[in-house]
Amino acid sequence: MTPVLEVENLSKSFGNVQALRSASLSVAPGEVVALLGDNGAGKSTLIKCISGVHRPDAGLIRIDGRTVAIRTPREAIDAGIETIHQDSSLAADLSIARNLFLGREPTRLSWLGALAPMDRGAMQASARTLLARVGIRRALAPATPVSALSGGERQSIAISRAMQFAARLIILDEPTNNLGVEETRGVLRFIREMREGGHSLLVITHNVHHVLAVADRFVVMRRGEVVAEGAVAGSDVLGIESLIMGVDLKAGAEA
Ligand SMILES: Nc1ncnc2c1ncn2[C@@H]1O[C@H](COP(=O)(O)OP(=O)(O)OP(=O)(O)O)[C@@H](O)[C@H]1O
Ligand SMILES: [Mg+2]
Repeated sequence: MTPVLEVENLSKSFGNVQALRSASLSVAPGEVVALLGDNGAGKSTLIKCISGVHRPDAGLIRIDGRTVAIRTPREAIDAGIETIHQDSSLAADLSIARNLFLGREPTRLSWLGALAPMDRGAMQASARTLLARVGIRRALAPATPVSALSGGERQSIAISRAMQFAARLIILDEPTNNLGVEETRGVLRFIREMREGGHSLLVITHNVHHVLAVADRFVVMRRGEVVAEGAVAGSDVLGIESLIMGVDLKAGAEA
């Protein structure tokens, strides 16, 4: 089966910091791939190249087997890639409902094109459903401005956005970071639901237990390089942590 995403030999430097060194990975249709590695390994840089935030210095990106040039975040979205960044990109002054639809607001009188008024009722109703699904417990009115939310709640809102538009490929950069127990369960449930719906996901996380719970495969980066990959089936926490750290934790010796 042609992979939904193939990244081939991607390199990227910031001044004299080489964040990515010829990194390659792929994600198959309906597959959940966990991207692992210690702080500064290059994970966020890799996904920012895929989502049009950074331009790689070298390498190729293929979507459904076709080489694509992703120059802007808009081009990534148009290619079917929805990304939730680590430093979430919500508009703090706007309401929860507006954030959920930012740039894709449902309109009434759609024949008016760009002049059509936003359908606020539809946005608020969808917002309520999404908040419940993502596991936000606190009763939050969809009209609440995002600036009034906690970090974890903002993260959940950003994830609801991806859920809403259900792209071919969903990229999540540390989606459970800062989240409470209920919200974390909501995110893991979301990943499973999306996978069951045939979507592909690339998920960055430091939580190896979450990898075992929801991923099919893992890819490990160290200092900008992809150094290991494997199937989750048959793997265990210590084994994966050993690959991340580059030491054999089971033997306590250098790998
Ligand atoms: N915009 C930037 N300008 C300069 N250096 C950068 C920039 N973005 C990332 N880097 C550097 O590139 C390297 C990789 O960073 P990156 O954010 O990709 O790591 P990461 O694997 O996502 O780490 P973490 O787990 O901490 O999020 C680091 O050394 C970082 O300091
Ligand atoms: Mg990162």
